[in-house]
Amino acid sequence: MRGMGVTAKRRATAQRALRGRVEGRIVVVTGASRGIGAATARVMADAGARVVLIARGAEALAAVAHGIRSHGGEAHEVVLDLRDTDAATAAAARILDEIGVPEVIVSNAGLSIRRFLPEYTHRFHDVLRSTGTNFLGPVALCLGLLPAMAARGGGHLVSIATVGVDLPAPGWSVYTATKTAFEAWLRAVAPELKAQGISTTSIHLPLVHSSMSHATPLYRFLPGLSTAAAARVVASAVVRRPRLVAPVFARVGGVIAVVSPALSDLLLTPFAGRAHRRLARRADAA
Ligand SMILES: NC(=O)c1ccc[n+]([C@@H]2O[C@H](COP(=O)([O-])OP(=O)(O)OC[C@H]3O[C@@H](n4cnc5c(N)ncnc54)[C@H](OP(=O)(O)O)[C@@H]3O)[C@@H](O)[C@H]2O)c1
Repeated sequence: MRGMGVTAKRRATAQRALRGRVEGRIVVVTGASRGIGAATARVMADAGARVVLIARGAEALAAVAHGIRSHGGEAHEVVLDLRDTDAATAAAARILDEIGVPEVIVSNAGLSIRRFLPEYTHRFHDVLRSTGTNFLGPVALCLGLLPAMAARGGGHLVSIATVGVDLPAPGWSVYTATKTAFEAWLRAVAPELKAQGISTTSIHLPLVHSSMSHATPLYRFLPGLSTAAAARVVASAVVRRPRLVAPVFARVGGVIAVVSPALSDLLLTPFAGRAHRRLARRADAA
């Protein structure tokens, strides 16, 4: 390692540790057709994992899988719309039959919609599709895979959540509610899974520059992680298996929001009022 910079040395050490965890083992990554999931799948495959890539977009999945195979890795594509919970259950059975029992599930697929209340009072389907993608489908997939992992002796379930779970904010109500639903489920089952040898990790990510965050134009200009950096956070969690990975501001803010919801409301109400007035002006002008 002589001549390597400190960062390169650290990355090489991290890569060896990851290889120790996943080499030759099956890692399922949902939402692997782009963004954080695709970057995570590449990192896992580079460390010798047999990756199972899940998403709806067949072409994008094939491109990620092709990239992995052209670097000598192993990738299996599973085209699945998580909103179809029967299909998620069937996909889990197919993975176990045709590929094998996973060592790690990275539950990463997600749908984020930024709308204030007046913008979705006539769009209940936003609530349904977010619930399907962020909660029901991921739980259905896990229910299909976890018993086999427990029977085999254990494994690791990683949930890619958001700091919005700690700090719910106006405009993100459906997104944070549905991401929180999965996190609440995970908190409740974590001890049951631990008793079966399955570790759980919740990663509450801050802003990551991806097609998801760039749907809000302002977010393109705010500081955030790259998808490659987010994938390194996931890789480190797969090695260390901590119960929670979250920035300090989210942990502290989360405690304040829970202990004093009135204070949280007080701070956010002027912001929400401004947003509603802006929407009303826009509606008047239309
Ligand atoms: N970007 C951020 O700032 C940020 C911050 C905190 C947390 N996160 C979380 O990080 C995760 C990944 O986000 P990202 O930024 O990488 O988003 P992204 O670029 O939009 O990728 C989302 C992934 O989820 C898949 N997906 C969406 N709906 C699906 C469905 N119904 N069934 C199956 N797969 C579906 C997408 O593939 P298809 O469209 O092909 O199905 C895609 O692969 C999400 O859970 C998100 O909540 C993101």
